[in-house]
Amino acid sequence: MPDRPSRVVRNTSTSVVTIERFIIEQEELHPGASGSLSGILYDLALAAKMIANKVRSAGLADIIGSAGASNIQGEVQQKLDVIANETIVKAMDHGGRLCGMASEEVDEIIPIPQGFKTGDYFLLFDPLDGSSNIDVNVPVGTIFSVLQKKGGPGPATLADALQPGSAQVAAGYVIYGSSTMLVYTTGTGVHGFTLDPLLGEFLLSHPDIRIPAQGRYLSVNDSYAQLWSDPVRALMARYRGLDGKREPMNVRYVGSMVADFHRNLLGGGVFAYPANAKSPKGKLRLLYECNPLAFICEQAGGAATDGQRRVLDVVPTELHQRTPIYIGSRDDVDAATAILAAN
Ligand code: AHG
Ligand code: MN
Ligand code: MN
Repeated sequence: MPDRPSRVVRNTSTSVVTIERFIIEQEELHPGASGSLSGILYDLALAAKMIANKVRSAGLADIIGSAGASNIQGEVQQKLDVIANETIVKAMDHGGRLCGMASEEVDEIIPIPQGFKTGDYFLLFDPLDGSSNIDVNVPVGTIFSVLQKKGGPGPATLADALQPGSAQVAAGYVIYGSSTMLVYTTGTGVHGFTLDPLLGEFLLSHPDIRIPAQGRYLSVNDSYAQLWSDPVRALMARYRGLDGKREPMNVRYVGSMVADFHRNLLGGGVFAYPANAKSPKGKLRLLYECNPLAFICEQAGGAATDGQRRVLDVVPTELHQRTPIYIGSRDDVDAATAILAAN
């Protein structure tokens, strides 16, 4: 991380605020802070820029490959989620701030390599969310969650990863859409930054995001409707206004959780991935997808439940644990709790 600029009083209405400056100013609100968390966020922003570049040129991979450039040594074109995974690991493993990492793409905890210093934080991430959408040019994302190490110094253990979401010290996501945005929280509100592609800088574009209490949008894949329980079907009927108890919501489903969540965060709504008869725990992963987005959502005034409990209260028992989720506008999530928890 570069040298700190001197403290400047910020007026977001007139000044350009880079993510670096914002992170430093946020750190100054916590006088005892060591700077490690700021460094982690800064490194993640750098990784996001590198992944954004790869995503932008994803459609060119075959064209360039057919000219012999990428396949001349017989190398197989790597899938973009493997590339994104490696980009994050390489950007984060040498800073001396992490004791280890865990990724949706890797079975076990990722250790910090021998010879590098370790630190007090543990990073969890979904390197590329919605990666099946890459081939059809639909937005994808990256999701991250930062925890403090449990116990004394040294390499990470499973216990560092298996902490409830309420223990997160930071969480965020990047959406590679019509523009690239990074949205994060450290527990003092939710702030969004848009990548200026010419400057190569994330600039503050959405300070202090608040999600409307009741939403317009419903994001759910209802091709699973036959496999849902009766209470889940009743809830979906409520959201669609079929029981006469509310105005119908508009259905929007991208199939990239980050993109669906982002729309609903800004415009109001609920994203649901219920359990079903074939996937009794749902599909989405507690540690890499649901906890970080639940932390962000709560910080923006929204809520997230698994149908029985607040997502952030769930104590994980497995690294790749799945959970049902209903996340978004507070009143809409309360409706889920009322209908599902009673049944
Ligand atoms: P990932 O690409 O990280 O595996 O995540 C895909 C997830 C999520 O982004 C999306 O909301 C969900 O899968 C879509 O699943 P369905 O196709 O079952 O609706
Ligand atoms: Mn995902
Ligand atoms: Mn993924």
